[in-house]
Amino acid sequence: MKTLTAVALAAAMLVAAPAFASADLAKKNGCAVCHDATAKKMGPTWKDIAAKNKGNKDAEKVLTDAIANGSKGKYGKIPMPPQAKAKADAPALAKWIMTN
Ligand code: HEC
Repeated sequence: MKTLTAVALAAAMLVAAPAFASADLAKKNGCAVCHDATAKKMGPTWKDIAAKNKGNKDAEKVLTDAIANGSKGKYGKIPMPPQAKAKADAPALAKWIMTN
């Protein structure tokens, strides 16, 4: 019985881990200062970004570039500065953003 519970718990954690890992990644890289899942801050919400880029087969590449090199004029007047220190995490962040 104990083993079963442990196995079930481990399985649940495996399923939950990726989402948490990337929300944490966004926090760690300072993205959460300007972005939130659903609340508009200085930057567009993760949901808006995913919706805007949905259907673009190169979405992950476009977002990876935008994270590393910055973005302007796509959502409004405020530009996003290049996120140089998030460069290594950019592909993982782009992938996660598209799941929002
Ligand atoms: C200083 C505030 C700020 C920070 C910090 C910031 N962003 Fe942004 N972000 C913006 C703004 C503003 C836009 C809208 C730019 C535009 O209109 O093109 C944006 C747009 C984006 C886009 C959309 C690009 C596209 O082509 O559709 C992505 C993806 C993104 N940000 C990811 C991130 C990630 C990941 C981080 C953390 C590594 C981050 N941002 C940190 C302000 C910020």
